[in-house]
Amino acid sequence: MPMEQSQWIDVVEDKFKYQLDHFVIPGHYKDDVESILIPHGLIMDRIAKLAQIITSEYDSERIVVCCVLKGGHQFFSDLVNYMKKALNKQGKTLPMTLDFIRVKSYENDKSTGKVHVSMSEKELQELKGKNLLLVEDIIDTGNTMKKLLETLDKYEPKSVKVASLLLKKTPLSCGYVPDYVGFAVPDLFVVGYCLDYNDIFRDLDHICAISEVGKSKYAA
Ligand code: HPA
Ligand code: MG
Repeated sequence: MPMEQSQWIDVVEDKFKYQLDHFVIPGHYKDDVESILIPHGLIMDRIAKLAQIITSEYDSERIVVCCVLKGGHQFFSDLVNYMKKALNKQGKTLPMTLDFIRVKSYENDKSTGKVHVSMSEKELQELKGKNLLLVEDIIDTGNTMKKLLETLDKYEPKSVKVASLLLKKTPLSCGYVPDYVGFAVPDLFVVGYCLDYNDIFRDLDHICAISEVGKSKYAA
């Protein structure tokens, strides 16, 4: 069952701008981020709760948790760790198979409009009849996920749900809303906790807004 809108945490820009010098930021990114939107500890606390909610909505049938690479990797790994300890509808632990799919559509801070999916035809065919849980870092316009879901649907999985750590509040949204969301974030380009800008910033623990300096320094 999809979550109610009120069930995700709304990171309102004004309220939740943490100062950079109140947290540890790697020295090499000092000038490249503007502010901290979500500190690492808060991300982890929220994922613990998401893991409980998600697990409690499944029966005992094995699910395939599929990480959408590369940005979803950190969220996937922390979410699965919490899900291992969470209980399903019947109060039991949930058997999970872990899988990975690489999807790329962004260059600089813009969507290229083209979505490239890395799974082979054979791997895609193996999804038939499976309960799929896709784990993504961010839903921005929603176009990438919409196209990915259209592609996967053709291979007839039994069920498909999407968990995204972030949902961007952007007027460019195609209207797609995932089943599970950690935080809604303002319409800024965000980096850290594996979210990247041209593959940079994955080694930053907090979710931050990139600065203009950062954008030009690491432009493709
Ligand atoms: N940050 C990182 N990756 C993204 C974003 C973003 O704001 N939007 C879509 N992919
Ligand atoms: Mg992504």
